[in-house]
Amino acid sequence: MSTAVFQPSHVDSKLHSDWLYLHADMPPAKWGTLPSFGTAATWLGMHHSLRRGQSELEHLNREFLNQHLEWGNYRQQLLAIAEPHYGHLHGHHSLEDRHYFPRLRLREPRLQAGFDLLDSDHTTIERQLHGIRALLVRLQQAGADTADFALAEQLHHAVAENGQWLYRHLMDEEDLVIPMLALYDAH
Ligand SMILES: [Fe+2]
Ligand SMILES: [Fe+2]
Repeated sequence: MSTAVFQPSHVDSKLHSDWLYLHADMPPAKWGTLPSFGTAATWLGMHHSLRRGQSELEHLNREFLNQHLEWGNYRQQLLAIAEPHYGHLHGHHSLEDRHYFPRLRLREPRLQAGFDLLDSDHTTIERQLHGIRALLVRLQQAGADTADFALAEQLHHAVAENGQWLYRHLMDEEDLVIPMLALYDAH
């Protein structure tokens, strides 16, 4: 499975190198060969779909603002993709907050600061989602007939800002969590 397709090349990690000690036993080069039914591969698959949804939303915003897409088509496609994408994102983070992260913290007490960072990312991303959802309500209410370029600009900036956090969060979370899941699945 490739997760690199939708990942910008300029994402800078916030992880401390000391937190990556499990990469000695489970380096990223091995992740593509993990069993597809395992928790680690399932986790990577969810992240892949979140990256794809994010890149599709960014693409639609650019296409409309560059006048390659007319308003009605833009509005319809953006609303159709945004609802399931942000639903998956919220649901995935809720599951991590409630179920996975507390258990993983107990398994690797040395990684508390890393999970604090991931928790803090979730809080920031959730706050951004509130703003994006409010813009999506306005997009829904705007109707299909009259283009609102100011609203599309606001959506473009809000979705792109959220994407910067999301891409970095997914990358950092994988570096921290995937080795744990893969090694625990194997034992
Ligand atoms: Fe997360
Ligand atoms: Fe995640």
